[in-house]
Amino acid sequence: MSKETAVYTHGHHESVLRSHTWRTAANSAAYLLESLKPHMKILDIGCGPGTITADLAELVPDGHVTGVDRAEGVLEQARATAAARGLGNVDFAVADVHALEYPDDTFCVVHAHQVLQHVGDPVQALREMHRVTKPGGYIAVRDADYAAMTWYPASEGLDDWLDLYRRVARANGGEPDAGRHLKSWALSAGIRDITTTSGTWTFATEEERAWWSGLWADRTLASAYADRAAEGGHATPGGLRAVSEAWRDWGRHEDGWFAVLHGEILCQKQV
Ligand SMILES: C[S@@+](CC[C@H](N)C(=O)[O-])C[C@H]1O[C@@H](n2cnc3c(N)ncnc32)[C@H](O)[C@@H]1O
Repeated sequence: MSKETAVYTHGHHESVLRSHTWRTAANSAAYLLESLKPHMKILDIGCGPGTITADLAELVPDGHVTGVDRAEGVLEQARATAAARGLGNVDFAVADVHALEYPDDTFCVVHAHQVLQHVGDPVQALREMHRVTKPGGYIAVRDADYAAMTWYPASEGLDDWLDLYRRVARANGGEPDAGRHLKSWALSAGIRDITTTSGTWTFATEEERAWWSGLWADRTLASAYADRAAEGGHATPGGLRAVSEAWRDWGRHEDGWFAVLHGEILCQKQV
């Protein structure tokens, strides 16, 4: 597989979008928010269904946000999200982060949430993100780190899920443990002024457990990820059913707890 043509592991099945549309600037980009100013021009890369993009647009009322994604189909949902919220300062376009069609020094902020884990060449992606950022502007990246995810109670089925997910993501050309790599990738891209933080999502209440376990249980049986797991010989149909059932079982535990660790980098482009 060419380094720049990684397959997006999840695809945009309903069980995947159920997770993406829950995301807000507050729960997914908090490390960036205090650097935002009302006039800023933002590029949101790999925007997916655009809920974070729309939040960013509300935070820069005198500025503008462009959301881009390599997948044309999901941009229709992003446009509908922005229209439903009456936002006039946001637009969307198809783009590949490895080769952005914007001039150097265009944006005040270039943001990517849960994207670099899926791309074939994250260092090239960061070079492009840096190139289109204005001097003094920010590059903001956040990615989960699958190997650092942890939960209670112990579950062999969820151990199997993690092992399977990481194998499928790597076979698709991605890096499921991207969170820990972000600083290193940024340094390799020639970026120097890097602030590194980490952030978490926690799912423990009955409602949170039902939502998180349900979307993984469904995604394991019907999504591009499920198809690739089966087609690539990574799991049998019975194995996928067992992993899906393990998620439902975990969700039923009153004392169930799941934490997702993310790496975050906020880089200021030197003037
Ligand atoms: C996990 S989703 C994240 C969506 C959104 N940022 C969010 O957090 O809700 C990753 C998105 O990155 C997009 N993507 C994958 N590879 C890409 C690439 N090379 N260039 C641009 N977008 C890409 C996928 O199509 C997908 O919509």
